[in-house]
Amino acid sequence: QGPLAGKGPLAGKTVLVTSGPTHEPIDPVRYLANRSSGRQGHAIAAAAAAAGARVTLVSGPVALADPAGVAVVRVETAREMLAAVEAALPADIAVFAAAVGDWRPAEARDGKIKKDGAAVPPLALVENPDVLATIARRSEGRPPLVVGFAAETDTVLENAHRKLAKKGCDLLVANDVSPAGGVMGGSDNTVHLVSRDGGVETWPKLDKDEVGRRLVARFAELLALRNG
Ligand code: CTP
Ligand code: CA
Repeated sequence: QGPLAGKGPLAGKTVLVTSGPTHEPIDPVRYLANRSSGRQGHAIAAAAAAAGARVTLVSGPVALADPAGVAVVRVETAREMLAAVEAALPADIAVFAAAVGDWRPAEARDGKIKKDGAAVPPLALVENPDVLATIARRSEGRPPLVVGFAAETDTVLENAHRKLAKKGCDLLVANDVSPAGGVMGGSDNTVHLVSRDGGVETWPKLDKDEVGRRLVARFAELLALRNG
C-alpha cells in the first residue's frame, strides 16, 4: 500500500502495470531481449502507489529496485507475463508499458548449443501472445481503463493511431524510440497521448518519473469520467 492509501486520487482502486523487457530463451545460457530498462513502467507503478492505489507490477528482467508500496511479480518471458497479468486481474486500470518480445525461439534447447558443428545454428522464431490485446479484447473482466504504449522509430503518430485501434485500448502513450532520442534506457521521455477519438496531446520532454506522475493523474481523471 502506498503512503496515501485511503487518501489519494486513486484510493480504493487497483492498478496493474507491466514493465521492462522480456527474455526469450534460446538455450540455458542465451536469450533474445530488447533495450527496455523498465524505468517508465516502474515510475508509473510508483506514482500509482503514491496516489493511493493498490498496485501490482508485472516486470520482466530489470536492474531497478522494486518501487515502494508495490507488489512486484517478476517474469522472464512473454508467456509468463501474460499468465502473471491474468492472475493479477481484476484491476480498475491496466497499463501495458512493457516492451514484450514479439517473437521467441521456436524451440528453447535444453542444453547449451555448441559451436563445434560446421553450420551456424538456425534460429527459427514464433510469435508471442500479445498481452495487451488479449486483455483489452476480453468480453468479461476487462479493466475499465486499458492503456497501451507504442514504441516507434518512424511515423510515430500514424502508427500510434493504427495501434490503438488494432489493440482495442482506451489510451495509447506513444514514444519515439529512435536511437538519437535516447529514450530506450534513458531517463527522459517525450510522449504523445493518443485517445480513442483520435485526439493527440504531445507533452514536453520530461523526466520519466514526472511522466509517470502526470500519466497517473490523467488515468485517475479518465477513470472518474468512466465511472460517472
Ligand atoms: N504488447 C504486449 N504484448 C506483446 C507485444 C506488445 O502486451 N506481445 C504491448 C506493449 O506492452 C505495448 C503495446 O502492446 O503496450 C504496443 O507494443 P509495440 O511493441 O509498440 O507494438 P506491437 O503491436 O508489438 O507492434 P510492432 O512492435 O510491430 O510495432
Ligand atoms: Ca512489439
